[in-house]
Amino acid sequence: MESIKDKVIVITGASSGMGAVTARRLAELGAKVVLAARRKDQLKTLVAELGDNAIYVKTDVSKRADLDNLIQQAIAKFGHVDVLWNNAGIMPISFFDEGLVDEWDRMIDINIKGVLYGINAVLPHMLQRGQGHILATSSVGGLKTSPGIGVYSGTKFAVRAIMDTLREEVAQTIKVTTIYPGATQSELGHDITSPKIKALYGNLTGMPKMDEDAIASAFIYAISQPGNIVVNDITLRPQGQTR
Ligand SMILES: NC(=O)c1ccc[n+]([C@@H]2O[C@H](COP(=O)([O-])OP(=O)(O)OC[C@H]3O[C@@H](n4cnc5c(N)ncnc54)[C@H](OP(=O)(O)O)[C@@H]3O)[C@@H](O)[C@H]2O)c1
Repeated sequence: MESIKDKVIVITGASSGMGAVTARRLAELGAKVVLAARRKDQLKTLVAELGDNAIYVKTDVSKRADLDNLIQQAIAKFGHVDVLWNNAGIMPISFFDEGLVDEWDRMIDINIKGVLYGINAVLPHMLQRGQGHILATSSVGGLKTSPGIGVYSGTKFAVRAIMDTLREEVAQTIKVTTIYPGATQSELGHDITSPKIKALYGNLTGMPKMDEDAIASAFIYAISQPGNIVVNDITLRPQGQTR
């Protein structure tokens, strides 16, 4: 396994959930972490906890200029970027006949465009260095869809297509990894407004869920492989989840 110490790792969606938990694990291993999300207070508190090898950059991944700024700030502070994890995402799921089109738009802007803007911001830097690792969080919903998750699932299928294509284009130079988590403890879904989804699933607390640490371990496994080994995809579910 390759050491993570001193690797410069940029994480979007680092203010809560799997991004925040992974940032803590990486800092313990001696990485330099650059944390991005919209909620400045959460990021500030986390950076205060992690110490000198962590900074935060308030970032809205639906804004291309914010991702450009994020990568520039990371380079300004730590000299380069080794790893970018495009992890930010939202899941206000609903049925099509509810017509919650504004929520569809937000999922497309954050879950798809956010990943694209991240890739665009870091790719020239990594190609110039002749190395780098780009990861993204899709979902098991990016492998298989079901009623009520059509748009969310569509965004995660898109992440899969984008990352698979990126790998085909840059595999000689850059590692590309897609993570497909099943149900995981986090704040995801806190913004569900759909009456049909609420009636069916309540606040989603009834289902088995993995600890965020399971994703942190998967992430660390992917980025600590030797130079000639790439973990292309990781799918993990809590025991008992079958779809
Ligand atoms: N939890 C699960 O069961 C599960 C399963 C499969 C896949 N996933 C995926 O895992 C990823 C992480 O989610 P999580 O489960 O850790 O949920 P979470 O606790 O809700 O975290 C989502 C993160 O995304 C950030 N975010 C949302 N909109 C953003 C924007 N416009 N710009 C920048 N950051 C934004 C949030 O920060 P701010 O609100 O501060 O911006 C937060 O840090 C997501 O892509 C999600 O789709 C989760």
